[in-house]
Amino acid sequence: MRVGTGHAHGKIILIGEHSVVHGQPAIAIPLRHLPVTVTLQETTNAQQFVSDVFTGTMAELPGLFDGIRVLVDRLLRRFNEPECPFTLTVVSKIPEERGMGSSAAVATAIVRAFYDFFDTQLDQQTLLATVNIEEMITHGTPSGIDAATVSADQPVWFVKGAPLTHFAMHTHAWLVVGDTGVTGQTGMAVNSVKELLTDPDQPGVGEHLINHLGALTKAAADALQHDQRKQLGLILNQAQSDLATLGVNHPVLQRLIDAANQTGALGAKLTGGGLGGCMFAVANDEQTAKQIATSLKQHGAVATWLEPLTAL
Ligand code: PMV
Repeated sequence: MRVGTGHAHGKIILIGEHSVVHGQPAIAIPLRHLPVTVTLQETTNAQQFVSDVFTGTMAELPGLFDGIRVLVDRLLRRFNEPECPFTLTVVSKIPEERGMGSSAAVATAIVRAFYDFFDTQLDQQTLLATVNIEEMITHGTPSGIDAATVSADQPVWFVKGAPLTHFAMHTHAWLVVGDTGVTGQTGMAVNSVKELLTDPDQPGVGEHLINHLGALTKAAADALQHDQRKQLGLILNQAQSDLATLGVNHPVLQRLIDAANQTGALGAKLTGGGLGGCMFAVANDEQTAKQIATSLKQHGAVATWLEPLTAL
């Protein structure tokens, strides 16, 4: 009986979400302590899916998993075994719908597990194109940044449609991620930005914000590469202000961002699609990062994660 295994992990977009959909660059980092493992085990009957959220046959997968169902179907056809019976088990530490790349990471681990199962080499381009099958169904018009980062070992400098570039950080800043507990709405947020860009009553407003976010992303890259932590914080605050003007903020995100800034953060912003999901703050050192995490919890964060940017 054949077996295949695939791994991936969570991610955080540091800067450039939303503007990346419209051609600007973005910087994202892998979160390797939030792993996903998929195991594909050949069986004698049925195609079975096992996870914390749903367990049953592939045909019974709920609508939320449409992207996964189509992805698995395409993979089975790609390997000319559409009826192959299996149990596909997903074990994930990534909270869902929080802008941490859960759907792209599960899809990536599934693609890797299938290629392992069918004993076939998988190159990066094929991986990203295949994960995109799921992401198009789950998110509508993904830029591809999630799929690129959940499969990467290093920070990513991402421009839609361009070859992926790894990004070497030279900073000792600490990252504190706070989960609002509010489900993010990436598809809805991306659509509302598109509406602003074509709103005849606000000519040029959306375009100006997108271009400014692009310029901030380039400035953030410079600050990250030269360990200019104060500068980085100021840039992140400006990006948060632009994202709020774009209409993708949420009151709970803002409450956590304010709490972080009042507890000594150098800067703080939402991450991912927004309208809920996660925010993060940047701190000068570990002790401040821990104090910020405590403050975030006191202000309603359902979970926090610390990440030394220096370790990436
Ligand atoms: O919410 P997430 O983690 O899926 O991030 C979405 C990032 C966006 O720029 C808003 C959309 C995209 O596809 O790049």
